[in-house]
Parts: sequence; structure tokens; C-alpha cells
Amino acid sequence: MLDTVTRPGGYTLTDVERRVFDELLATGAGGPDQLRLTRVPFVPEVQLHLAEDAIVLWARLEAAVGQSLPPPFWASAWAGGQGLARYVLDHPEVVAGRRALDLAAGSGLVAVAAAKAGAAVATANDIDPYALAAIRLNARANAVQVDVWAGDLLDGDAGGAEVVLAGDVFYSRDMSRRMLAFLDRVAARGGTVLVGDPGRAYLPKDRLDVVATYRVPVLGALEDAEVKQTDVLRLRSR
Ligand SMILES: C[S@@+](CC[C@H](N)C(=O)[O-])C[C@H]1O[C@@H](n2cnc3c(N)ncnc32)[C@H](O)[C@@H]1O
Repeated sequence: MLDTVTRPGGYTLTDVERRVFDELLATGAGGPDQLRLTRVPFVPEVQLHLAEDAIVLWARLEAAVGQSLPPPFWASAWAGGQGLARYVLDHPEVVAGRRALDLAAGSGLVAVAAAKAGAAVATANDIDPYALAAIRLNARANAVQVDVWAGDLLDGDAGGAEVVLAGDVFYSRDMSRRMLAFLDRVAARGGTVLVGDPGRAYLPKDRLDVVATYRVPVLGALEDAEVKQTDVLRLRSR
């Protein structure tokens, strides 16, 4: 069963949403829209509740709650998040003993990796209440502690987070503009910023240095290739 997820302003998953989410959890047999606890291809140390077909899952969720919903990004392990999680597990010194924030966390993959790599505190942020619910389930499935920070942080600087980890966040012009301004504020106050990205259109390449490059297998039908070349990049201070 799900924990209740509350965000500032008092939003709580409704009973309907909670029931829908519970029904989606794998119970053995089931269609491609069911959530299954799945080993992440490029990060096999981590298991996540993922959908084989997130588009079908999205349709089923919308039908069940009778309203339009944002895409269930939390039901996929995005290439950027996989690359970043791999990097954190292979370079634990980046987060060990530090307060790490997985920004726009989706499934919470990178926060789970940070917790496993020894972060003092691993926090996951997202604006989608279903993602927040998934993050809690996924933290529990990996037997790690992940705090959930709900809501849109992009107008602030996430004060308190010493390392900000952002997987696959440069996929739209508006998001990219706000994200870069936010990450600049984090870097300006001395925070470390790492990004995982498989070549999204709005990646601000001129502001980032590549620290690792991987070939990341992706699950499901969301990408144009089964393997995505994915960079982990560090933000350069202005
Ligand atoms: C492509 S997914 C990436 C998820 C995860 N980081 C990964 O790599 O697997 C993008 C995520 O950004 C979240 N998101 C979009 N706008 C946001 C915002 N302003 N603040 C926090 N999260 C946001 C979405 O809800 C979604 O979960």
C-alpha cells in the first residue's frame, strides 16, 4: 500500500488516485501497463516499479481517474537518470556524507543511488504527486531512506542541498531555461551540480563539462533507440 503523499498547499493523493496506484502494482500476471519491480538495466544495483509501456499506463491512469494527467515519467528509467545514477554509484565520493537532492526525480532512481552511495541525506523532488508516491515505493523496494520534497523548487536555490543531481531535465525550452537559472543559483552558493543527459535538444552544452560518457540501454518504447549515448556533466560556475 502507498503512503500518503502531501505537498505544500495541502495536496494529498485522493482515495481514487491511491486505489488506482495500488491496482497498478504488479500482482503477477498483467498487461504492459502494470508496474513491475524491475532491475534498472544500466544500474542493476537498483530495482524500480516501472511500466513496460508507459503510454498505455498513462491512458489507463487517465481513464481511471477521469481527468487528464501529466505523462507518468516516474514509470520509466530515463537514460539521463540511469547515467547519473551509474556515475554516483561508481564515484561515491561525490555524495558520500553530503546532502544530495535528486531534482525532477521521476522514479527517484538517482536519489536511491545517492542513498546507496552514502549520502548523509538523499532527497527526491518532483511536482507530480504520482512520482512522489513512486519514489516512496522505490526507496522502500531498495531498503534505503529517501526524503521527499514536493513542489516546484526552480525559483529558489534548494538551500541546504550540497549536491544537486538532475537526470534528463533538458527536454523542453521552458524547463531548460528555468532549470539552468536554478542550477546557476545552486552553483553560485557553492553547491555541486551534476546533470545526466542523452543529448536532449535544450541541453546548455556551453555551460557544462562532460565528466563521463556511457552507452545506456533504455526500456520501453519512449526513445528513438534502444541504447542512448548519455553524458554526465558538471555545471561550470559563471
Ligand atoms: C524525463 S523525467 C526524468 C526523471 C528522472 N530524473 C530520470 O532521469 O529518470 C522529468 C521529470 O521532471 C519532473 N518535472 C517537470 N517539471 C518539474 C519541476 N518544475 N520541478 C520538479 N520536477 C519537475 C516531471 O514530473 C518528471 O518526473
